[in-house]
Amino acid sequence: MHILVTGGAGYIGSHTIIELIEAGHSVVAIDNLVNSSKESLKRVGEIVGQEIPFYEVDIRDREGLEKVFASNKFDCAIHFAGLKAVGESVTHPWEYYENNIGGTLVLVDVMRKHGCKNIIFSSSATVYGNPAMIPITEECPKGHCTNPYGQTKSMLEEILTDLHTADVKNADPNPWNIVLLRYFNPIGAHPSGRIGENPNGIPNNLMPYITQVAVGKLAKLHVFGDDYDTHDGTGVRDYIHVMDLANGHVKALTAIEKKCGVAIYNLGTGNGYSVLDIVNTFSEVNGVEIPYQIDPRRLGDIATCYADPAKANRELGWKAERGLAEMCRDSWNWQKNNPNGY
Ligand code: NAD
Ligand code: UFG
Repeated sequence: MHILVTGGAGYIGSHTIIELIEAGHSVVAIDNLVNSSKESLKRVGEIVGQEIPFYEVDIRDREGLEKVFASNKFDCAIHFAGLKAVGESVTHPWEYYENNIGGTLVLVDVMRKHGCKNIIFSSSATVYGNPAMIPITEECPKGHCTNPYGQTKSMLEEILTDLHTADVKNADPNPWNIVLLRYFNPIGAHPSGRIGENPNGIPNNLMPYITQVAVGKLAKLHVFGDDYDTHDGTGVRDYIHVMDLANGHVKALTAIEKKCGVAIYNLGTGNGYSVLDIVNTFSEVNGVEIPYQIDPRRLGDIATCYADPAKANRELGWKAERGLAEMCRDSWNWQKNNPNGY
């Protein structure tokens, strides 16, 4: 298939492009580079042995998108582009709604005008809020998102679903096919160590914080709470290797090919690890001590969140294959080879 990858220069997008090309697809990447650099795509090109066609375009820029669609006939878009910092979304909600929702509305409008009505959307486990069941299946009711970032994911799921529902009601001969992928916690990097997660400023997420402590850029990790109802009191999450997550997008294309209508999949491993499990595994695998101190809980955090990934396995033939040791090794391999990122 010929795939438009929005946000293709970012963390998950760049890794997914590798998996897409290795599976025989062709891609065009677009990105406004607000949270990434062209260097990632240059390196992806080196890894796969071919240049990645790239347009520096903002998804809110209708004319810019029109130009990309005028010279390409896409079969599907994989839509990663968006702002993703939870804390920033609380202080800058308008920017998050305008970019994530406004941008997606422009994108799907241009797509439908060009007859491309297949989209895979980057959603998040955050839509489950404080989940009503553990492990979380796709049947778990959506919960209250405590921040505007999470709200944009939840609202975009509804908006995209409504597009398909309307097509069915209107007996549209070319209805939307929409795959909503709810990611759990992606970590790790391509095994080459050439591309990886490259956050701006002080990282919000656990693994990039740990790797920056390991490389000496930050003094110690702050563990947010040790009084949760978990095996060691620290928060439990479903960490998934970014290459497994990337492969989930290749498998999701099979649902698009089968004209799935709206299909929702959790992309997680089904294993829950605590903050201290991650710290200890990282230290053991890489031989680097991670000094830490226990701080109060972070506002909005939940105790436990991990997936039941059986549906993606059953319907897409997808399963996460890489374990926690490999995730920790690859995260460190990326960071130590690129102490200052791109
Ligand atoms: P990222 O920031 O590395 O990648 C997103 C890319 O989108 C960046 O390259 C950024 O420059 C680009 N972008 C942002 N706004 C844009 C716009 N208006 N026009 C064009 N490009 C734009 O983030 P990521 O971790 O690769 O996440 C990819 C997607 O997955 C995001 O939608 C994110 O919300 C979602 N997601 C991520 C996680 C996670 O933990 N990383 C978890 C769940 C969901
Ligand atoms: N944590 C720390 N110290 C840190 C950072 C995190 O102790 O410096 C803890 C958190 O309290 C939590 C765990 O590590 O228990 C994971 O936190 P992250 O910030 O890495 O990830 P979250 O689970 O909070 O959220 C992430 C993304 C969201 C996404 C969600 C999907 O940031 O965008 O995963 O499950 F929606």
